[in-house]
Amino acid sequence: MGWERRGRWWWLVGMMLSVTGICVGCPEEQRESLVVSRIAFGSCASQSDPQPIWNAIINFDPHVFIWLGDNIYGDVRRPFKLFGKERTIGPWKNVPRFIPSSEKEMKSRYNKAKSNPGYSHIRKNAKVIGTWDDHDYGLNDAGKEFDRKSTNQRLLLDFLDEPPDSPRRKQDGVYASYTFGPMGRQVKVILLDTRYHRDPLFSDGSILGSLQWTWLKKELNGPSTLITIIGSSIQVISNLSATTGPLFYLESWGHFPKERDRLFRLIADSKRDGVFFISGDVHFGEITRYDCASGYPLYDITSSGLTQAVEEAVSSPLHFFVRFVAWLTPAPLRVMNRNCRYRSCTFGQPNFGAIEIHWDATPVMMRIEIRDMIGFPVMGVNVSLSELQAKNVSPFATTEYGRHCSLEVTLPWIVRYRLAVSFYSMLAALLVTLVGLSYAAILAYRKWLHKSKCD
Ligand SMILES: *[C@@H]1O[C@H](CO)[C@@H](O)[C@H](O)[C@H]1NC(C)=O
Ligand SMILES: *[C@@H]1O[C@H](CO)[C@@H](O)[C@H](O)[C@H]1NC(C)=O
Repeated sequence: MGWERRGRWWWLVGMMLSVTGICVGCPEEQRESLVVSRIAFGSCASQSDPQPIWNAIINFDPHVFIWLGDNIYGDVRRPFKLFGKERTIGPWKNVPRFIPSSEKEMKSRYNKAKSNPGYSHIRKNAKVIGTWDDHDYGLNDAGKEFDRKSTNQRLLLDFLDEPPDSPRRKQDGVYASYTFGPMGRQVKVILLDTRYHRDPLFSDGSILGSLQWTWLKKELNGPSTLITIIGSSIQVISNLSATTGPLFYLESWGHFPKERDRLFRLIADSKRDGVFFISGDVHFGEITRYDCASGYPLYDITSSGLTQAVEEAVSSPLHFFVRFVAWLTPAPLRVMNRNCRYRSCTFGQPNFGAIEIHWDATPVMMRIEIRDMIGFPVMGVNVSLSELQAKNVSPFATTEYGRHCSLEVTLPWIVRYRLAVSFYSMLAALLVTLVGLSYAAILAYRKWLHKSKCD
């Protein structure tokens, strides 16, 4: 029996039976079909835009689909306005650029997203799980101070078809964990809530809050699974702000260095094998890896967005400009190939993440890809589970990726601030040109005045 034709009920019963190792009277191939070998994930889907990418995800035919946040855009964005009654930018700005919408409006946006035919198809044929990021939490860049968080938690859980009696509806925040597949082929998915308890940006405070930390520790130290995927709405490994500042900053775990160290230490101390991260938020796809945290390489596969992507934000003649800006932001932890450390190998068009697990290979292999709107893989890595073993304290410096230990903040000054330096140089050049032109104009005018006087 195919995955498609079994209802959720069967799926649950089958999972419970297989977890306990009992499969009385159930044919071997039925147990086999419970194995999760294809997982898709994505983030940043505007409900008011067409979402053609679902067709590519349907073709991938995932067993599980994971939402990583900005599953809808719930808040209201005011246009950039320098002048007028309501000014949203500049030092004289008098109203916030983003405002939360009413519960009714949030609901109607969720309904719109849920009724998308492509997504409906996925809901019917795959197990859909998810967490949130800022725009579905209710407000751009918001954290624990946001006062509509408990109402919006209910709305997200409704969207995800969380049962009415689920403990997830009683806790503060939407974090959750799932274990899929039969014994010996288990995949654990841990979804973090990076919003509900998050201290203010630039505070270097907490992202998860103490209750979620206790929960996470328990989850990581619980029964082992061959694979453990940690879903975080914001990026864990890449610290883009280090190379885009002081021009602009992006949210990430890197922004909360103490909290990030705590996460890495927790994973290392748990001695859990097969852990890697998936993330969203930034409106481009990227694969990064950090070798010096947990005793084995930690991958972070970022897919963003399903509709909202940096190159889509501007008209096509300007795509080259976006690529140029991206090219100027180096990241020593990008692993696409060696050249990507000093230039960008990010993917700025709509994309989704695709994880394929080859359970029959020895050792078990994973192929993890970022795929574009038509399902074409634009970047990917092969990860062997033998590589993600806590006991292998490998001598990193000698591996091919030994350099995936140097952080963005340790890049040479001129490389790290290339974007800012280019921006200010361009600005300066523009200014000098303007001054030069004005000077020439004045000279010409004087000459003309002089000439007409003499005439
Ligand atoms: C990430 O970059 C920010 C901004 O430059 C910096 O303050 C922070 O320490 C960095 N975090 C890490 C873990 O390198
Ligand atoms: C990665 O794995 C795929 C099979 O999933 C294989 O076709 C491909 O050649 C592998 N690539 C590398 C670089 O090993």
